[in-house]
Amino acid sequence: MVKKNSPEPISEVNYPQQVHLNEEDYRSLFHFASDAIWIHDLEGHIVAVNEAFEQLLGQPGAELIGRNVREFLSGDGLSVAAIVKKKLLKGERAVGRYEQLVLRDDGRQVILEITTCLIRRRGKPLAFENIARDVTEKREIEKNLKFCLHKVLQAQEDERKRISRDLHDEAIQSLLLIVHELDAFGSQLGEHPPARSRAELRSLRKLVVEVEESLRRVLQDLRPAILDDLGLPASLEWIADRITREGKMVVQVVLDKKPHELSSEIELTLFRIAQEALSNIRKHSQASKVLVKLNFLDDSIRLTVADNGVGFTVPALGDVNGNRGLGLLSMQERAQILQGNVKIRSIPRSGTTVIAEIPYNLVASQPFWSLTRPEIRVGNRSGLCEQPADDIKEVL
Ligand SMILES: Nc1ncnc2c1ncn2[C@@H]1O[C@H](COP(=O)(O)OP(=O)(O)OP(=O)(O)O)[C@@H](O)[C@H]1O
Ligand SMILES: [Mg+2]
Repeated sequence: MVKKNSPEPISEVNYPQQVHLNEEDYRSLFHFASDAIWIHDLEGHIVAVNEAFEQLLGQPGAELIGRNVREFLSGDGLSVAAIVKKKLLKGERAVGRYEQLVLRDDGRQVILEITTCLIRRRGKPLAFENIARDVTEKREIEKNLKFCLHKVLQAQEDERKRISRDLHDEAIQSLLLIVHELDAFGSQLGEHPPARSRAELRSLRKLVVEVEESLRRVLQDLRPAILDDLGLPASLEWIADRITREGKMVVQVVLDKKPHELSSEIELTLFRIAQEALSNIRKHSQASKVLVKLNFLDDSIRLTVADNGVGFTVPALGDVNGNRGLGLLSMQERAQILQGNVKIRSIPRSGTTVIAEIPYNLVASQPFWSLTRPEIRVGNRSGLCEQPADDIKEVL
């Protein structure tokens, strides 16, 4: 007897009537696909195109057949095409999701996301089949978004600078003046003021001094003077020392011996990333040990902040729903502005490692498309760091 929820025996399954696709069916699949499809021979001459491809290039198929795909590519695009061709002829089955900038005859440029595979006949390479999607608008939106984020971060830094200057020049100076006035007032009370007045004056003075000290702490977080005066390594030691003194965790700083000269932009960016990573550790990790490491590599500087806390499931980039903060995203954005990246590795109950890497020099014109677009994600899908290095494990 067959159990109620068990799958039916194969012989009893009613398969839908078998559909046999003939050549015409495949032809219409090719012609009416919403993605642009074209086939070119091994030398690059176009031999077949579909409607979406005609629309993409703004020309009828008859005018496209026979032309060489090279005519639509620029210098960099040609190198990308050569790499794809080489990979496929070497035996790779398909090269997927690479981007090409295509120049139309009317002068318009379109960015295509392409998948290419090699068609073989009796085992011999015959032609290349390409399936492409127009991502021009998508890339434009991404570019604008990045520009806006850059501006927001810049405005935030300017605002922090202005607030810290105002705090220093106005609020803190006023508090110092009050302390001074209180002292002067105390000395005017004569040699034997009533005990109550003396006690009240003393506690008032203490309160003002405490407010002044806490304002100075806020000011240091907004824009630590030590960063401008002594640079990034000293600032990291200063912030680590401050957190260690709170008594909840020990923050150890390990610095490479040969410091490379860093631009103030890189210093500020890495300091902000370290500040956010440490703030997350204090708020969320319950860690007892933290390691902050600065490595001066050949072409880039690497900051590592690792903790032995509770860890968490790293969200993918852009996965910012209502309850999540913006710290992780802003770390990534700050690094990207300087063509760097941030990778996060976190395993629940095994701690978190944040690695930020920034090149010393910006590449003048970084193409926004490339054979393999640089992965720029925070997250456990593609932005995962490798296993923590042994020296990190040792410290934690
Ligand atoms: N070192 C860490 N240990 C454990 N959990 C962490 C750590 N860093 C981040 N998280 C988790 O990731 C979440 C997102 O961090 P993110 O910095 O983006 O936001 P937030 O700290 O909550 O808020 P905000 O940074 O905007 O003040 C945190 O809410 C926390 O759950
Ligand atoms: Mg945070």
